[in-house]
Amino acid sequence: MAINPEKIVKKIRELPPLPIIAQRLLEVVDDDRSSANDLTEIILTDQALTAKVLRLVNSSFYGFSRKISTLSKAVVIIGFAAIKNMAISFCTVEAIKKLKGPVDWERYWEHGITCASAGKFLCQALKDPVPEKAFVIGLLHDVGYAIICATHPKEFEEFIDKGYYTSIVEEKEFFGISHPEVGRMLMEHWRFPEDICRVVRHHHTPSMIEKAEDIQLPVLVMANAYSYINDASYYDPFCSEMLSGALSAISLSSTQYSGVFKDVAEHVKMTKDFFGLSFNSEETVSRSDDLRVSFISSDTKRSEWVGAIIESWGMTPVLVSSFKPIIAHEQDISLVILDAAALSGEPMLLLARKLSSEGINVCISESSSETHMADIGLPVIPYLFKCEDVKKQIKSFSQ
Ligand SMILES: [Fe+2]
Ligand SMILES: [Fe+2]
Repeated sequence: MAINPEKIVKKIRELPPLPIIAQRLLEVVDDDRSSANDLTEIILTDQALTAKVLRLVNSSFYGFSRKISTLSKAVVIIGFAAIKNMAISFCTVEAIKKLKGPVDWERYWEHGITCASAGKFLCQALKDPVPEKAFVIGLLHDVGYAIICATHPKEFEEFIDKGYYTSIVEEKEFFGISHPEVGRMLMEHWRFPEDICRVVRHHHTPSMIEKAEDIQLPVLVMANAYSYINDASYYDPFCSEMLSGALSAISLSSTQYSGVFKDVAEHVKMTKDFFGLSFNSEETVSRSDDLRVSFISSDTKRSEWVGAIIESWGMTPVLVSSFKPIIAHEQDISLVILDAAALSGEPMLLLARKLSSEGINVCISESSSETHMADIGLPVIPYLFKCEDVKKQIKSFSQ
């Protein structure tokens, strides 16, 4: 049952604008003539916001030994852009919190904050001058869901119950509009800069990833993928094509990715606390130090990413470069994952058969495209496999 997109457009227009303070902060973003003094003056007009910003800059995350007692000092030490985006984030979270509807808010914020934190650290690793922009984008990119739910709660529940969220096309067919389109409308209504609106609009559009003008779109896609594999996802449909595009656009080594992933979990915890979004859910972290996993692919960019992901799960990634089938037993490898895309070559097929015939646990990870995969009788795991997929596969071999 499609809804009337006009109703959503009308509702967005009726929504209150962001608080004046946030609007003024957004104006500062685009005004080169603005100074640190302008920024502190705006924030100082709101006592609660000032206190929040100071509490955050004095938190263990920044790790300053001396207390930063004034906002102007914080701007000097943390930076103009960081303080500005931090304040905008606080204001927008407060505005979204006012939206009602049967959204699973715990998962919604878990996803937004995970994407925000992962995006920020990815940008830092990429030496982007304003990593906080990725934080704001990650935090707000799925706001379209909150609006659809607030305006059409019954239809939203029906859609979720039917499990329709497998692709953005199905979402658009059902609602007549997709959450990135709705998200963009709200961001425009809130007068966010055009570059941020554009990233929100296209975060599920594979054709846009190659055309991206800066790293913000691929970074957001990667942050979404990170959230998905670590079960911090919302209803977002996953598109493997988007991730392969993002991996092509971003050049980070496995070590750099590991540095990013190491910091995300702690930052998410701290951020939830600061935004008043901690839901007291039990966190269970199970490490798997004894598992040694090898990922073999002809796509070096994907190998770097996957290696770091495997490490972030507490498993030991065994490097492809040092891998020789003959010594696989000696290396005590729990599982070898072969990238389906790499299997198109005859040598890889031979390698897969050889490993398998030697009793080594081998499986194939699906390709990012629809191309036909060679059927060589090996188990298959998803392109964006999760920790559980790997563990299940290892378990199935031991049975
Ligand atoms: Fe998302
Ligand atoms: Fe999304």
